[in-house]
Amino acid sequence: MTKPPEHDLTALRLSYTRAELRRADLNPDPLAQFQGWLDEAIADDLREPYALSLATADSVGRPSVRTVLLRGADARGLTFYTNYDSHKGRDLAGNPQAELLFHWADHERQVRAYGPVVRVSDEESTAYFHARPRESQLAAHASDPQSAPTPNRAALEQKLADLEARFPEGTPVPRPEFWGGFRLQVQEWEFWQGRPNRMHDRFRYVRQESGWNVERLMP
Ligand SMILES: Cc1cc2nc3c(=O)[nH]c(=O)nc-3n(C[C@H](O)[C@H](O)[C@H](O)COP(=O)(O)O)c2cc1C
Repeated sequence: MTKPPEHDLTALRLSYTRAELRRADLNPDPLAQFQGWLDEAIADDLREPYALSLATADSVGRPSVRTVLLRGADARGLTFYTNYDSHKGRDLAGNPQAELLFHWADHERQVRAYGPVVRVSDEESTAYFHARPRESQLAAHASDPQSAPTPNRAALEQKLADLEARFPEGTPVPRPEFWGGFRLQVQEWEFWQGRPNRMHDRFRYVRQESGWNVERLMP
């Protein structure tokens, strides 16, 4: 017999009272607005506030979403690193656009960013690869092709052990060609601040030739 649900999901709700977002509070530069919110999340020790949900779609429109870590945010765009042969890597090769989302629950905030996605330069990927811990470098080699089936945990660990033998401590681990960065060149940003009774504040910035057009959105 199926157990009755332990929690009544329809009865669980929060009212968001922490802050408000007025047009006058907005930075005219959405990147600075984003950096301000991210800095607050880091300063308040939120857990992994630089983790984001990345939504892609393949060339026939099948969506997929997963978490990745933000590794750069500047005027060029928002950067993350992954395996180019992974599900997301293949989606982006065939349909180079994505939307990403940050949800900072303790700050009752959400940020979305949409735009075309390009690969970062090989030099930049290599520099970041070598800045990662050695174990992560070896794991990037071991997990290939990322997202393909593997028979069991032991096979994966054997692959890592073989790589440790091939690249003993002190030997540099080269960046695999199939691993590197992507950069989402933001065309649209949305900043969401939760408010009581579902009357949330939302502002969307859309890139125009002359700058950013900003609109308040219905909650
Ligand atoms: C908190 C967190 C951070 C993650 N960071 C990354 C990352 O930066 N790069 C990455 O390739 N996968 C990262 N992953 C794993 C991905 O969510 C995903 O499982 C993996 O990349 C395969 O995705 P795909 O099959 O859609 O390509 C992270 C997962 C979590 C939960």
